[in-house]
Amino acid sequence: MKTIVVLISGEGSNLQAIMNACQQGKLKARIAAVLSNRSDAYGLQRAALAKLPTQALNPRDYPDRGSFDDALMQRIDAYAPDALILAGYMRILSPAFVAHYAGKMLNIHPSLLPRYPGLHTHQQVLANGDIEHGTSVHFVTEQLDGGPVVLQAKVPVFTGDNEDDLISRIKTQEHDIYPLAIGWLLEGRLTLREGCAWLDEKPLPPPGYAAD
Ligand code: GAR
Repeated sequence: MKTIVVLISGEGSNLQAIMNACQQGKLKARIAAVLSNRSDAYGLQRAALAKLPTQALNPRDYPDRGSFDDALMQRIDAYAPDALILAGYMRILSPAFVAHYAGKMLNIHPSLLPRYPGLHTHQQVLANGDIEHGTSVHFVTEQLDGGPVVLQAKVPVFTGDNEDDLISRIKTQEHDIYPLAIGWLLEGRLTLREGCAWLDEKPLPPPGYAAD
């Protein structure tokens, strides 16, 4: 059975979806551990409830980003995971960290990348009057939220929507697409080559996989 380590910073609803998919056999993987940069992340409680090993590292205990990421890397590598899954992990990664997990690290970001990298995506969508929003699973590269997209899901934006409406509409989609993409990676169907995401030996287009 392939193993993954999941990094979180907050609520952990994506982690929950991944745990559920593993439990239901939809995702053939074992979660070796859940790690966080915040000891108060609610996702750690979800993981503990599922009897998964958890660890929290406080960035304030380290002099700089590089040494925090080195310590995190050591903890992760102790589990020798096949993939590293960022599920609402809200820290910028050092170049050494990104290089170490190149091709093995996925992130989910709440926008239709390349639109709205960074923070406050829902607020920007509302402020700009967009009629469409979405979420993207992508490989992690050194460019913040800039790695090749694997899969996107779109949602409509309705008149009168607020940020919470968008968050919940987006998360519903995330909970479906993230376990699917993780499965592709673990099955060896999804790879990162020549700066491109490949699925079943075909390069994916910029918005990622699209059903015919
Ligand atoms: C998710 O919507 C995810 O896309 C986003 O954080 C949320 C985490 O929710 N990630 C980012 O913004 C990363 N740049 P969760 O803790 O309930 O899974």
